[in-house]
Amino acid sequence: MKFKKKILCIGAGYVGGPSMAMIAYKCPDYMVTVVDINQARIDAWNSAELPVYEPGLDEIIKKTRGRNLFFTKDIEKQIAENDIIFVSVNTPTKTFGKGAGKAADLQFLEKTARQILEHSQSPKIVIEKSTLPVKTAQAMERILSSTKRNITFDVISNPEFMSEGTAMNDLDKPDRVLIGSHETKSGLKARAELVDIYARWVPKEKIITSNIWSAELSKLVANAFLAQRVSSINSISALCEKTDADISEVAKAVGMDSRIGSKFLKAGIGFGGSCFKKDILNLVYLCNYYGLKDVADYWESVIKINEYQQDRFIANILGSMFNTLAGKKICLLGFAFKADTGDTRESPAIYITRKLLAEHAQVVISDPKALKNAAIDLAQDQGSKISYIEDPYLAASGCHALVILTDWELYKKLDFQKIYNSMVKPTFLFDGRNAIDHKKCFDFGFNVYPIGKPALSHLMD
Ligand code: UDX
Ligand code: UDX
Repeated sequence: MKFKKKILCIGAGYVGGPSMAMIAYKCPDYMVTVVDINQARIDAWNSAELPVYEPGLDEIIKKTRGRNLFFTKDIEKQIAENDIIFVSVNTPTKTFGKGAGKAADLQFLEKTARQILEHSQSPKIVIEKSTLPVKTAQAMERILSSTKRNITFDVISNPEFMSEGTAMNDLDKPDRVLIGSHETKSGLKARAELVDIYARWVPKEKIITSNIWSAELSKLVANAFLAQRVSSINSISALCEKTDADISEVAKAVGMDSRIGSKFLKAGIGFGGSCFKKDILNLVYLCNYYGLKDVADYWESVIKINEYQQDRFIANILGSMFNTLAGKKICLLGFAFKADTGDTRESPAIYITRKLLAEHAQVVISDPKALKNAAIDLAQDQGSKISYIEDPYLAASGCHALVILTDWELYKKLDFQKIYNSMVKPTFLFDGRNAIDHKKCFDFGFNVYPIGKPALSHLMD
């Protein structure tokens, strides 16, 4: 079959895989190829068990794979054959050298830019899909124009705003698609080419264009604002616990102000995921770099509150359980950083588990999708004290406490009477997501400790 356009994506991760699947699905006349240096990842994309769990992704892959969506490791050949190249390689926080712990590690991005340069024989549009520090496109352009070969490269910033667990819906009906380019003749032409792709299914008014630096910065800022809301509500949850106010009631009352809005006001154990912390650290680094220390400190406090919230949660578990967890069995319900994903990157569950192990607790971890990743995350920890049991009833049986860490829908529907009956007494329930009916669980006999609400304890009588 002759395809109208050929599109390549380098990086078959959580972003590259689903976003290219959506383009392939919406544009059956385009050929979309996704490459990755990791053979196992490519094999998984070509198998029945995809490397990423995302509701709705399986169906779209079934409809597109082998038709106009292809996964391969053959990066060089694909660079040569495609003129539109998305770059979706990972950009983790640097762990070494200058900016360690804050700046983005751009080595994979730079390596990819060099690969593109080496294997290109015709003009290319190179699209940054990864979240990057503002001005990265400049570095990319400098690498791409570093030889005298007569090939033009237009670098575009098209950050992805999809959220895990709802990625397919976010890709299908995005709030906006942002495309940043240079405002030169060839930059605008490249921008138009990308607008054409999205216009196949996204209403024109939702496709916004900007200069390239605004696009890069907007992605960082959007994530920073979202994380800031989570830290804001979590900071108030601490005050609620001191004053007998109820954080859900406060969030509702505050969020009904249309200027504030109701989303992202759910108190919990703090945000996780591969983006929020990394992107804020990145923003902090950038602000410091440009001499804006007060601005950097302001954003850094969002991360500090996130860590404070997790420490507070652990202190509450320890304090409520008579200041000793040694030898006690604690069941964690949920390990993923949020519901509807198997992703555990930066999940608060990792930190919380380690703190419980440090208190010599035995930890039983349950999660419908994230147990494989949990075992990888905790591979270096005291293996003998951790067990992994998917069935929540079996996991909870014989435990002293239940700790809800992920707001999986299935936890709301559990038979908590049955669970209570199988646990050691007195029985503790720490709901780190305010996900379940606390009063009902209290009536079954649990001592219930929500976030930002008064505890319901039989031990206080
Ligand atoms: C994305 C974005 O790219 C990142 O900037 C954003 O902030 C988080 O989301 P994600 O798709 O979640 O990253 O990362 P990951 O699942 O790790 O996928 C990246 C893929 O790129 C990996 O499969 C990795 O093997 C691949 N890769 C990395 C390459 O193909 N080439 C490289 O040189 C480096
Ligand atoms: C985020 C952004 O939402 C998305 O636009 C961007 O492209 C990538 O980063 P993601 O990390 O997948 O997406 O998840 P998100 O839904 O934003 O949740 C992040 C964390 O905040 C989760 O740990 C979640 O549990 C937590 N959260 C979110 C809260 O604790 N309370 C809330 O009200 C909302």
